[in-house]
Amino acid sequence: MNKKRVFSGIQPSGGIHIGNYLGAIKNWVDFQKDYDNIFCVVDLHTITVRQDPKILKEKIRETAGLLLACGIDVEKSVLFAQSYISAHSELAWILNCFTPMGWLEKMTQFKEKAAGGRERASVGLFDYPVLMAADILLYDTDVVPVGEDQVQHVELARDVAKRFNSLYEKDIFKIPEVKIKKETARVMGLSNSEKKMSKSDAGENNAINLLDTPDVISKKIMAAATDSENKILFDINRPAIYNLLVIYESFSGLTKGEIESKFVDGKYADFKKDLAELVAEKLKPIREKYKEISESGEIEKVLKQGADKARPMAEAKLKEVKEVIGLG
Ligand code: TYM
Repeated sequence: MNKKRVFSGIQPSGGIHIGNYLGAIKNWVDFQKDYDNIFCVVDLHTITVRQDPKILKEKIRETAGLLLACGIDVEKSVLFAQSYISAHSELAWILNCFTPMGWLEKMTQFKEKAAGGRERASVGLFDYPVLMAADILLYDTDVVPVGEDQVQHVELARDVAKRFNSLYEKDIFKIPEVKIKKETARVMGLSNSEKKMSKSDAGENNAINLLDTPDVISKKIMAAATDSENKILFDINRPAIYNLLVIYESFSGLTKGEIESKFVDGKYADFKKDLAELVAEKLKPIREKYKEISESGEIEKVLKQGADKARPMAEAKLKEVKEVIGLG
């Protein structure tokens, strides 16, 4: 039986953090055995806000290297960078012409990212979900595993696909399903538990990056916000400690009950020390593997070979789309 196809992407911006890991990458790694997988470093999404060319180039390789270090296996998955396949941009343009402005106006992430500067935000930032729809729809994707912040964008991709299919009365696009891992779909910041952990927090205490050293991890966790109750319980109404416990749960593999019993008489400082050790221990192999991969000089080759595998699929879908529209 044919395996279902997974597609997902990550931006090569800022530092890849444990929110990205627990909310998305770890699940991608786990899905590899059951699905047919395509993972994409979405560099075209990253240029929706200004980037330093040299840093962007490095970050594309760093992000791909980190995915490999986390366990994305090119024997089981296709890994490439979005800009290597021009069909992504081309389908995005075509889909632009089939997406009402009103649908994009509803996207909460644009409202947050553009903040007060809507007039100055790039058209690309506004249009970002359509490029994301193109990414997904080019590959007959069945399942899109993401964190919670991307759910609305995947829903838009579904709506765009349905609209296109119904206009041309043909099932050109497969309708993708979104998949989130409930517990870690929204890992919050360490110093501000009201805000999700984000790549733009790089260099601050709010996010733990996958390449942080044990010392840095410990400093950030020891400085993390808590509350004054000093009770180590999974209580959603105490978001700061709850978030730290969710991180503990996902890295340790212990159940909520086991964790609560372990720290029943513990103080926050003891729990934080344990958490810092656990996170450092789990990230150590990733850091070591990343060093090995980045020194091997293989990343460029992996991205090129991945693009060579993905391109024929993308081009076949684009051809189908153009034909039904009457282009070319
Ligand atoms: P990006 O690069 O912001 O994030 C990559 C993945 O990490 C998830 N994530 C989180 N999960 C839990 N807690 C957090 N604090 C957290 N922060 C980020 C994101 O939800 C995402 O799954 N637009 C996408 C990239 C993209 C894409 C696609 C994804 C482009 N095309 C097609 C899926 C399919 C983005 O900017 O992700």
